[in-house]
Amino acid sequence: MSEIQSEQLKAILREADERLESASVKADVEDVRIRVLGKKGSLTAILRSMGSLAPEERKELGRLANEARAEIEEKLSLKFEELTRSEQTARFAGEAIDVTEPGERIHLGVRHPITLTIDEISNIFMNMGFSIAEGPEVETVFNNFDALNAAPNHPSRDLSDTFYITKNTLLRTQTSPVQVRTLMKEKPPIKVISPGRCFRTDTPDATHSPMFHQVEGLIVDENITMADLKETLDAFAKRMFGEGVTTKFRPHFFPFTEPSAEMDMSCFKCGGTGCRVCKGSGWIEILGCGMVHPNVLKVGGVDTEKYTGFAFGMGVERIAMLKHGIDDIRLFYENDMRFIEQFK
Ligand code: DAH
Repeated sequence: MSEIQSEQLKAILREADERLESASVKADVEDVRIRVLGKKGSLTAILRSMGSLAPEERKELGRLANEARAEIEEKLSLKFEELTRSEQTARFAGEAIDVTEPGERIHLGVRHPITLTIDEISNIFMNMGFSIAEGPEVETVFNNFDALNAAPNHPSRDLSDTFYITKNTLLRTQTSPVQVRTLMKEKPPIKVISPGRCFRTDTPDATHSPMFHQVEGLIVDENITMADLKETLDAFAKRMFGEGVTTKFRPHFFPFTEPSAEMDMSCFKCGGTGCRVCKGSGWIEILGCGMVHPNVLKVGGVDTEKYTGFAFGMGVERIAMLKHGIDDIRLFYENDMRFIEQFK
């Protein structure tokens, strides 16, 4: 066997050892494999060159070369496993979670007090068999005023009270136009409430806001009388503010009802003796109501000989303010979480 080739084998083994020693990633190991055992590798070259040797020499060198190959393969795979393990250890260390570290607090949202109040009012009426009707915030002048029997010169039509969008459309100033929509769409018996946003050109102060909410109510059926109105709205006041409250009805005027009334409720805070909430009077004004005017029923094609109805409307902000002792309506729209979170 040629001395040179056996020296070469030793040199290859040494070099492979050195390179594997300094290999720090698996790619380095692969690199060594290619250098030695690859198509153009150093050991492959020796094995190829054996063809030119005498049979005896070839046998001897072949044995040595194969031993060298087995040795290198063994070392390659050992190093590969070692690096696999250390890479895994490093990855696990990087991914480790410190279970003792305090978590990030997730801030849960709460429902807005106006939403809560609308839900509370709606639930009371739904338990009495009312269903919910909805109408758009951008309304026709016809539905918001004309169909509700508002005189052509009614002051609420003024530019100084109403946000007009065009000559014939506006931001609804009340939820009452939903009465008109319901009457035009449905046949009696009708029993709906309609909560929603309203708009008026009011300058904001402690009790006014250009955007606010109302809940409207409408019942139309045979034999509906003022007694039904009083019974229903008295029951509402008791469920909303406590069984102890009593109600009284004061004559009033609304274009869309005749007769019309405002309902007052005995003060739920002082029981009627007079306090800050009822401003000393013992009574609190709570809503507007009345028997639906025949002109309104006629717009919906209702037979006014056969059917009568009553309607009511209340301000949601006002009810929420009374109930929770809030003294400034603007608090509802500032979205200060310290305020809003008090109602969850
Ligand atoms: N729409 C009235 C307002 O904004 C409230 C109202 C009063 C509604 C009497 C009614 C009602 O349905 O019958 O002041």
